[in-house]
Amino acid sequence: MSHGTTHQHDVIIIGGGGAGLRASIAIAQENPSFSVACVSKVYPMRSHTVTAEGGAAASIKPNDTLEDHIYDTISGADWLADQDAVEYFVNQAPAEMIQLEHWGCPWSREPDGSVAVRPFGGMKIERTWFAADKTGFHMLHSLFQTTLKYDNIVRYDEHFATRLLIDDDGRCRGCAAIELQTGRVKAILGKSVIICTGGAGRVFPFTTNGAIKTGDGMAMAYRAGVALKDMEFIQYHPTGLPGTGILITEASRGEGGILINKDGYRYLQDYDLGQPLDVSDPGHPQKRAMELGPRDKLSQCFIKERWAGRTIETRDGHVVHLDLRHLGEAKIDKRIPFVRELARSYAGIDPVHQPIPVRPVVHYVMGGIDVDSNSATTIPGLYAAGECACVSINGANRLGSNSLTELLVFGAQAGKHAARFAMDHPDYNVAALETQAEDEGARVRRAFFDAPRKGGERIVTLRTELHEAMENGAGIYRDAESLEAACATVADLRERYRKLNIDDRTHSFNTELTAALELGSLIDCAEAMAHSGLQRTESRGSHQRLDHKERNDEEFLAHSLAFHQADGSAPQIEYKPVTITRWPPGARTYGAGSGLKRE
Ligand code: FUM
Repeated sequence: MSHGTTHQHDVIIIGGGGAGLRASIAIAQENPSFSVACVSKVYPMRSHTVTAEGGAAASIKPNDTLEDHIYDTISGADWLADQDAVEYFVNQAPAEMIQLEHWGCPWSREPDGSVAVRPFGGMKIERTWFAADKTGFHMLHSLFQTTLKYDNIVRYDEHFATRLLIDDDGRCRGCAAIELQTGRVKAILGKSVIICTGGAGRVFPFTTNGAIKTGDGMAMAYRAGVALKDMEFIQYHPTGLPGTGILITEASRGEGGILINKDGYRYLQDYDLGQPLDVSDPGHPQKRAMELGPRDKLSQCFIKERWAGRTIETRDGHVVHLDLRHLGEAKIDKRIPFVRELARSYAGIDPVHQPIPVRPVVHYVMGGIDVDSNSATTIPGLYAAGECACVSINGANRLGSNSLTELLVFGAQAGKHAARFAMDHPDYNVAALETQAEDEGARVRRAFFDAPRKGGERIVTLRTELHEAMENGAGIYRDAESLEAACATVADLRERYRKLNIDDRTHSFNTELTAALELGSLIDCAEAMAHSGLQRTESRGSHQRLDHKERNDEEFLAHSLAFHQADGSAPQIEYKPVTITRWPPGARTYGAGSGLKRE
């Protein structure tokens, strides 16, 4: 139902990637009479899920167990994951993966027809399902084509949601969104709302994340009063292509690729990650060891090699080599053809004959919108799922291939809970919400269109300074001084953002306005990341403090919660305990003695 610039549905989903589409289907199935609105700033197939390469984890093989998947995830997370959430995730995962196959996902198969799985980092046993190395593309297609079957899923493509609309009774009932084609601000109303807008890797300069991953949903929830949880935990993927940051999937190491330094030496053996086997050994690749250690540790090893002068200097910074040559052309073409394609196109080398230059690259934000084990936020009627949310199964370090499964499991879960909330709380105050949306339109006009054209700050200047501050201050290794500097720069940028100048005052597809709004989201997310990092005076997973090198369970076996302050002052940081059920915190061991299984 549309009235001018107001549209009413039952459930509103913000974000059209994997989590958003999975949630839409769950709602359409939960209540076929419901109208579901899927609001996305891009056409759904352009969502970042489409770029995922290596695969999605779910325990299915007879040599694997749910317990092993749970243990690998919890230990990979450096015990910061909530164990009830991890158990739910692991238990639901196989059914979600099979469901996706029924919706058309062409999982790669073994010669006997069973689903093929490959090992990923930090796993005792192989459990990553894949569709060659274009898994995200196939998953997103399968979800998207399934949504098309449901007439009650209505899409608002190319609508940029900028504000959550909260009813007089404190319940979230929709969003204000700019229709990019016309510049009109719409009130898109519903009885409940799910944010599925993905991560915020674009806070950093060198990232695998597409340009759209600017943390808009995280920032919107933060500004509305929901805490951002565990934002200090930023995942650097160990193998990005220098220059572009394009991902070279972990599947290349899962298939047997090795990392070597400038001397051709497999340096990971020097970092307590096990000893190398002969690459022609049938037991190769080594699970939960060496190149299949967890991402946080592998990225930290790169930095240590660099400090020791054993990396290779290139025009695009220091690199090591990912060597796939021993795999042979047939295996590379069958299992990781996209890696070959990317290396040829973007590094000018053919991995069949030459090693690939790689370096760590920002890939994923473990933290996000604070949600409970039902994907509900602290605002009634508001839910979140996927990378924008922190439920938390990823803790201080996510295991590769858990995130694609996460968006299925928790997209479905958030959809079900949001649908039930909508059924139980049907009435809301349309006029009050329309007024909020009008106010939002006026705010955007005032902030960006009414200011004088000349003399203000430029988007690119602020964004570049933000990138530098975060890379230097909150990168793989941090300390108080670097984090304080990042906090100070972010505060300064927040102030200068008020004087941002945009030249383009047109209404249709105003990309300068979009970039300005995205920059605002980046500043909000960066603020939570830097301040949460500063307050956590321990090292855990991806958060490595040079001035506090040990994990400190006594004080910090806890989730950080960053609360936005409306007056622009520093966020308030609070903590809440991690849920520990059956897996007491222990040492993270990889390589020998880590529970490694060899067939
Ligand atoms: O390396 C990769 O294919 C990435 C997978 C993931 O982040 O889960």
